[in-house]
Amino acid sequence: MEHGDNMSKTPYELIGQDALYQIIDNFYNLVEKDNRINYLFPVDFSETSRKQFLTQFLGGPDLYTQEHGHPMLKRRHMEFTISDYERDAWLENMYTAIQHANFPASVGDYLI
Ligand code: HEM
Repeated sequence: MEHGDNMSKTPYELIGQDALYQIIDNFYNLVEKDNRINYLFPVDFSETSRKQFLTQFLGGPDLYTQEHGHPMLKRRHMEFTISDYERDAWLENMYTAIQHANFPASVGDYLI
């Protein structure tokens, strides 16, 4: 792909919906098995809102806002106790999820 092409595309377009959803699926599979943080999450891991959020965060259609309103991420996380320990576990799982998704390495580097 030409450099010029990349400049005119949103990150969402570069990554593509399939790879993005793959990241979230990978992430939830990892979190579900991670005893450091899995107790914080609902038993029924409904990952739709994450897919919607990341789609819009990376320049795709604003699916999250259409269904849930403003993300207000700080407010939506207030009820959970998240210290450095939980933060590191979350980031580690997201990092692994990105590494294992199927897209060009340059896109993974951008996300990380
Ligand atoms: C930059 C980092 C993060 C982003 C972008 C993010 C994003 C999100 C989003 C979009 C939601 C869904 C909100 C909703 O509509 O209900 C959510 C929920 C949640 N987040 Fe985070 N989050 C981050 C960090 C963390 C960390 C570090 C933890 C704890 C280890 C955490 C724990 C949770 C929990 C327990 C929920 C509710 C359950 C769920 O909806 O799956 N998040 N987060």
